[in-house]
Amino acid sequence: MKRRSLAGIGAGAALFSLTACGEDSGEGGDGGSGDGYVIGFSQVGAESAWRTANSKSVQDAAAADERGIELKFDDGQQDQEKQIAAVRGYINQAVDAIVLAPVVETGWTDVLTEASDAGIPVVLADRGIEAADEDLYVTRLGSDFEAEGRSAGEWAATTFAATPDFKILELTGTTGSAPANDRKAGFFAVLDEKAVAYTLVDSQTGNFTAEEGKATMETFITTHGLDGIHLLYAHNDEMGLGAIQAIEEAGKAPGTDIQIIIVDGSKAGFQAGVDGKVNYIVECNPAFGEQLMDVVVDVIEGGSPEKFTPVEEGVFGPETFEAELPNRQF
Ligand code: AHR
Repeated sequence: MKRRSLAGIGAGAALFSLTACGEDSGEGGDGGSGDGYVIGFSQVGAESAWRTANSKSVQDAAAADERGIELKFDDGQQDQEKQIAAVRGYINQAVDAIVLAPVVETGWTDVLTEASDAGIPVVLADRGIEAADEDLYVTRLGSDFEAEGRSAGEWAATTFAATPDFKILELTGTTGSAPANDRKAGFFAVLDEKAVAYTLVDSQTGNFTAEEGKATMETFITTHGLDGIHLLYAHNDEMGLGAIQAIEEAGKAPGTDIQIIIVDGSKAGFQAGVDGKVNYIVECNPAFGEQLMDVVVDVIEGGSPEKFTPVEEGVFGPETFEAELPNRQF
C-alpha cells in the first residue's frame, strides 16, 4: 500500500497507525498489492441490471493499468450483516479506503466507527446512510434519489391533473433503503405541493427484484383488482417488469389499462417503453466507476470532496423511447 495522508479523512484519523497498515514497514503480508492503493468495496448485491452494471463500472475503472489499484470486492446479497462482515474484513486487512454501497440507511454506526478508529476513510457509493452517521464517512457519490422521485411526481402530476379520483399503486424498493425512502418522499411531495388529489391504494415492497415485484403486483391485483387504478409507480425497472408480467397474466394491458413509471432506464425497461408497456422512465445512472475511483484516490491522498456529489441523470417520455434504446448501456 502507498503512504496515506491523514488530512481530511475524518474523526478517527488521529488514531491511525502507519505501522498497523504495514506502510513503509517493509513487512508486507497485510493484503497490499505493491505499488497501488488497496480499496475494499462492499456492494449491495446483484439484484438488478442496474446493480450489475454498477459493479462492472467500478471494477473496470479500478482495473485500469494507470490507476494501479487493487480492488477487493464483496457481494452483500442485499444482507446488511454480510456487508458489515465485509467491512470488518477490510478493516482487518488495513485497506487504504473502504467503499460502501449500503443496502439500508441505518445500523452502520458501530462498524463505521471501527473504520474511523482504524484511520480508514469510508466513501459511500450509490446509497446514503442516515444523518446520525454522517460524520462516519467522508463523502457520497451517487444518485439524488429524492430528485428522481420528484421527477416521477412531476410527470404524474401533469399527466393526471384532470383525472377525477386518481388512484395509485406503488412498488417500493428494499425497505429502509435510501432509494426506497427518497423516491417515495420526492414523488408524493410533488403531488402534495401541486395539490393533486389522489388515493394511494396500496404501497408494498418488491425489494428491487423482478420476482418480488411480480409477486407483490399479484397481491395488489388479488386485493384491489385493476379497474379504476390509473398508475403504477415502480421504484426500479426490475419490479416494473415483474409487475408487467403480473398485469398481463391478469388479462390487462400494461401501459394502457394502467400507466407505469419505472426508475433506472435499463435496455429492458426502454424496450418495455417501446412496446407501449411503460409510460415514463426516470434514469438512475450506475456508470460512475471512473468518478468514484477519482474521488476515492483523492480522499486517500488527503482531499476533502463535497459531502455529496450527485451523478448526472435524465428523464424520458414515450416520444424518446425508440431513439434512446440503442444508447442504453445496461
Ligand atoms: O440504489 C440504486 C437502486 O438499486 C437502483 O434503482 C436499483 O435498480 C438497484 O437495486
